[in-house]
Amino acid sequence: MENFEDGAREHLLSVNVNENGGFNGSESKIQVKNLTRSLDKGVSTLQNASLDIPRGKIMGIIGPSGSGKSTLLRALNRLWEPPSGTVFLDGKDITSLDVLLLRRKVGMLFQLPVLFEGTVADNVRYGPQLQGKKLSDQEVHKLLTFADLDSSFFNKSGSELSVGQAQRVALARTLANEPEVLLLDEPTSALDPISTQNIEDLLLKLKSKGMTVVMVSHSIKQIQRVADVVCLLVGGEIVEVLKSEQLSEAKHPMARRFLELGS
Ligand SMILES: Nc1ncnc2c1ncn2[C@@H]1O[C@H](COP(=O)(O)OP(=O)(O)OP(=O)(O)O)[C@@H](O)[C@H]1O
Ligand SMILES: [Mg+2]
Repeated sequence: MENFEDGAREHLLSVNVNENGGFNGSESKIQVKNLTRSLDKGVSTLQNASLDIPRGKIMGIIGPSGSGKSTLLRALNRLWEPPSGTVFLDGKDITSLDVLLLRRKVGMLFQLPVLFEGTVADNVRYGPQLQGKKLSDQEVHKLLTFADLDSSFFNKSGSELSVGQAQRVALARTLANEPEVLLLDEPTSALDPISTQNIEDLLLKLKSKGMTVVMVSHSIKQIQRVADVVCLLVGGEIVEVLKSEQLSEAKHPMARRFLELGS
């Protein structure tokens, strides 16, 4: 029984990194090429952004408020529709993919979780159900356990949870779709330090299973704890991409100021 359960979990959370092996052997899971988002009056929230997001790693995105971090993240699963030829998943233009398929492959968690009406189990089952699959109770329990929620949560209503608990349910719900990439927009900014640490531990566990993670965070310390690579955005421009241990070597003046104030 023990082995079966482990096997079930492995299946639920496995990430098939070789699925699109024809991608020139590149290490990039997502490529962003010359992505610009112009608003009225000639203002751009993103200017000619180009970025390689490495497969199976955690990329942190930091930058001052209004610098375009959420805009960039939202382009990656078409919550904001990028122009064609600017964002590629495994070498394929994401605008040519079915948007629901893309969002299953590229899951997202927001700053504040929004749970659907119903129980925690209903929430976790939601994504697979859209595809006509019903997760067994055991599969739901496995996902909850992975997201650090014990069995007592199974039948709880979403409305009786704390923000930290709801964030973990939202994570379990996203993982039920077996995503290959997880996008996180300040996922722990509303959480206490212990819930934050739990989420960070989960991200590292997901990375060890081959997941690619892109996380926007205002906490430089958090980025240093979990990210492999860091992208610095200032005024809609990607000004630096560094390994997280080299973050202190950032050269852009605004980036330096941001780092000094944030540490
Ligand atoms: N739908 C929109 N319409 C008009 N302007 C927008 C829209 N969405 C974002 N913006 C503007 O684009 C810029 C970048 O916004 P974005 O939300 O990407 O910043 P951010 O780096 O995520 O900021 P924060 O750290 O505060 O979350 C901001 O100046 C914002 O006002
Ligand atoms: Mg934002």
